[in-house]
Amino acid sequence: MKILTVAGTRPQLVKVAAVSRELRKEFTEVLVNTGQHYDYNMAGIFFDQLNIPKPDYDLGVGSMSHATQTANMMIKIEEVVNKEKPDAVVVYGDTNSTLAGALVSSKLHIPVFHIEAGLRSFNKRMPEEINRVMTDHVSELLFAPTDLAVENLNNENITINVHQIGDVMYDAVIYNMDIAEQNHSLQDMQLTSKSFILGTIHRAENTDDEARMTAIVNAFLDLDTKVFLPLHPRTKSKLASYNLLSKLENASNIILSEPVSYLEMLLLEKHASAIVTDSGGVQKEAYFAKVPCYTLRDQTEWLETVETGWNQLVDPVKENLTILINSFVEKDYKENLYGDGRAGYKISQLIKEYFSSNLH
Ligand code: UD1
Ligand code: UDP
Repeated sequence: MKILTVAGTRPQLVKVAAVSRELRKEFTEVLVNTGQHYDYNMAGIFFDQLNIPKPDYDLGVGSMSHATQTANMMIKIEEVVNKEKPDAVVVYGDTNSTLAGALVSSKLHIPVFHIEAGLRSFNKRMPEEINRVMTDHVSELLFAPTDLAVENLNNENITINVHQIGDVMYDAVIYNMDIAEQNHSLQDMQLTSKSFILGTIHRAENTDDEARMTAIVNAFLDLDTKVFLPLHPRTKSKLASYNLLSKLENASNIILSEPVSYLEMLLLEKHASAIVTDSGGVQKEAYFAKVPCYTLRDQTEWLETVETGWNQLVDPVKENLTILINSFVEKDYKENLYGDGRAGYKISQLIKEYFSSNLH
C-alpha cells in the first residue's frame, strides 16, 4: 500500500519524524514537503537532525496570503496525487499545508488520514481552527490525541473511524531526549539549569496585534529572570515593525536567538524554570518536561495541561506575568496524559486494519 504524506511546517516535521519511522515499516511512503516553512532553521535543520527521509517532492510554496498559499499548494499537490495515485493521504495538525492536502485528496476520492484530529479552540478567528475543522470533516481515519478531541469530533457527528492514540509529539520527545542530551549542552548556549525562562511567540492573534505584542514585550522586560527567546521569523519582523525589537535587543535580561533546532529546544525546555509561549507543541513539551507553562492566549486546544495546573492561560494585557510565575505552586503530575509514546506505532497498525477491512 502506498501512503502519501503532506507536511511543510516546523511542528509538522517533528511529527513526521515520529510517524514516518513507523509507517515505513508497513507501507511505501511518498513524502511531499510543501515548503510552507523554508528557512534552514525552520525546516532543513529538522530534516537533518531528525533523520527525516528526503522528500520525494519539494513543492517550494513559501510564504503568501492564506488564499494564495493554500491554492498554490493545492495545485501542486493535485499534480503529485494524480501522478502517484496513493491509497491514502496523511496530513498533520492544522496548518494551511494540512488543509491543502486534505481538500485535494478528498476531492480525488483518496482517503484522508488526519493525525492530531479533533482539537478545537472554538475560535474561528484562528486560521488553524478553520483548517482543522475542515480537515476533520473530509477525513476517513481520524487519529485523536486525547479523549477531549474524540468528544469534540463526536459533538460534530464524526463518530466513525475515530481513534484515540495519544500524542505523536510525546513519541518524539521520548525518542529524542537522550539524543539531545548527548549532542548538546546548556553551556553551549551560555545558560545554567533553572536559571532562565524560555519564551516562544508566533501566533497571529499575538503577532498581528500591536497592543498585545507591546504588552508581551513589557512582560518579558519586567521579569526578574533571564529570558531566552528564539524568535520565529514572523515575530521578528512584526517586532521590528512595531519598534519593539530594539527594546528587546537592548534589555539586559533578554537573550534573543534565531529559531533553535529541535534537540536544543528539548534541552532548553527541560532546564527552563518556566515557559511562556503561545505554541501548541511547546505547551505540551512543557508538560512533558514538568516545567510550569504560561500560555499567552485566550483558549488552548490542550486543556488537559491547564486542568492539571501545570499550564495557565494568561492575558498579557490584563495580567502580571511576573506575579503569576512567582506564585506557582507545584501540582500533582499525571503521567501519560498524552499516551504512552507509541502513537506512531498505533497509527501504522490502525491504518493496516483500515486497509484490510476496506480492501480494493
Ligand atoms: C504556521 C501555521 C501555524 C503553526 C506555525 C508553526 C498556518 C495558517 N499557520 O504559522 O498554525 O503554528 O506555522 O510554526 O498554516 N517565515 C519566514 N521563513 C520561514 C517561514 C515563515 O520568514 O521559513 C515568515 C514569513 O514572513 C511568513 C511568516 O513567517 O509570511 C508566517 O509564515 P506562515 O507559514 O504563513 O505562518 P506561521 O506563522 O509560520
Ligand atoms: N521548536 C523548535 N525550535 C524553536 C521553537 C520551536 O524546535 O525555536 C519546536 C518545538 O519544540 C515544537 C515545535 O517546534 O516541537 C512547535 O512548533 P511551533 O511552536 O512553531 O508550532 P505549533 O506547535 O504552535 O503549531
